[in-house]
Amino acid sequence: MFNFFTIILFALVCLGYSNKSRPRRHFDEEYRINTPACDIVCEAQWKNEFHANFHKIYDTEYFEIPLDTAIVKNRSNLKMFCSSTIQKYTCLRKECKIHRTPWSAEKHICVGHFDNFDRNINCLSHTDKYVQKECSNVCNSIKIEISQAEIDRMAEMEFTRQEKSEFVEQNKHCNFIACHQLCHEYVINKICIDSAVAARSVVKSYYDSYLEREYTALNKDDQDELYSSFCRRVTPGQDENAYTANMTRYNNLTLDRMKNDIRSVFSILD
Ligand SMILES: *[C@@H]1O[C@H](CO)[C@@H](O)[C@H](O)[C@H]1NC(C)=O
Ligand SMILES: *[C@@H]1O[C@H](CO)[C@@H](O)[C@H](O)[C@H]1NC(C)=O
Ligand SMILES: *[C@@H]1O[C@H](CO)[C@@H](O)[C@H](O)[C@H]1NC(C)=O
Ligand SMILES: *[C@@H]1O[C@H](CO)[C@@H](O)[C@H](O)[C@H]1NC(C)=O
Repeated sequence: MFNFFTIILFALVCLGYSNKSRPRRHFDEEYRINTPACDIVCEAQWKNEFHANFHKIYDTEYFEIPLDTAIVKNRSNLKMFCSSTIQKYTCLRKECKIHRTPWSAEKHICVGHFDNFDRNINCLSHTDKYVQKECSNVCNSIKIEISQAEIDRMAEMEFTRQEKSEFVEQNKHCNFIACHQLCHEYVINKICIDSAVAARSVVKSYYDSYLEREYTALNKDDQDELYSSFCRRVTPGQDENAYTANMTRYNNLTLDRMKNDIRSVFSILD
């Protein structure tokens, strides 16, 4: 049994270590602390199954934002992805005695909200091609700016170069996530008609949780001053004016611009 695991682990190590072209998660460190090998094995097994099921490499070819084509393509793909994900969490519990795991996109989809994804799979599957193409086009090319007020605040607080760059990167990431959320909801409204309300709420809860995790990760390291006002605006439970005052109008304009860009890329659909 252990040899089998070792092979998987080796395969993982060989496949891994490549740069992600789009923003992805950064939670892996979290549950590695107690039992270094065990959880990595469960994770490797899961990634290996992903490769076998979907013929693509999880680390480099699967994306959490937007929802990946592989899993929303159709119901059988969703089920395949989720049954493997559930096995991963069983493995963590049974083999590694890890009962508490942090939020992850796959856990959200397969454990917390599987029924909702399953019920709305037709809408998600119909909207997927627009999300992958048009939404990605818009969201990869939105203009991202940081307000003068926040630039001033970073100077006042004497942010290091590294902190500034983390702030900028995180802000970009939030813009990218928010854009995909708005865009997917926009497409759902156009295409799903009857099931639009339900499907929108599936998408919203996924993106909301994703953004909450972004915030939690910074907050845990006591770095939440690196979370921009725009990030706060789009993250549930956060106050856009918490660190810099009077940001509502600026963020309104940013979101309006984003919505206009989305609308114009889909003007052909109208
Ligand atoms: C990955 O990215 C880092 C910095 O983001 C860079 O230093 C490194 O060379 C990159 N590696 C590859 C294989 O592209
Ligand atoms: C689901 O989509 C995959 C392609 O990603 C295809 O091979 C498979 O036949 C589809 N399954 C169903 C039930 O439509
Ligand atoms: C915020 O805006 C209000 C009204 O426009 C103004 O009175 C206040 O001084 C502003 N606060 C800051 C910190 O800029
Ligand atoms: C921001 O937009 C909201 C509606 O989206 C509006 O109610 C509010 O007045 C706007 N605030 C500013 C300062 O522009």
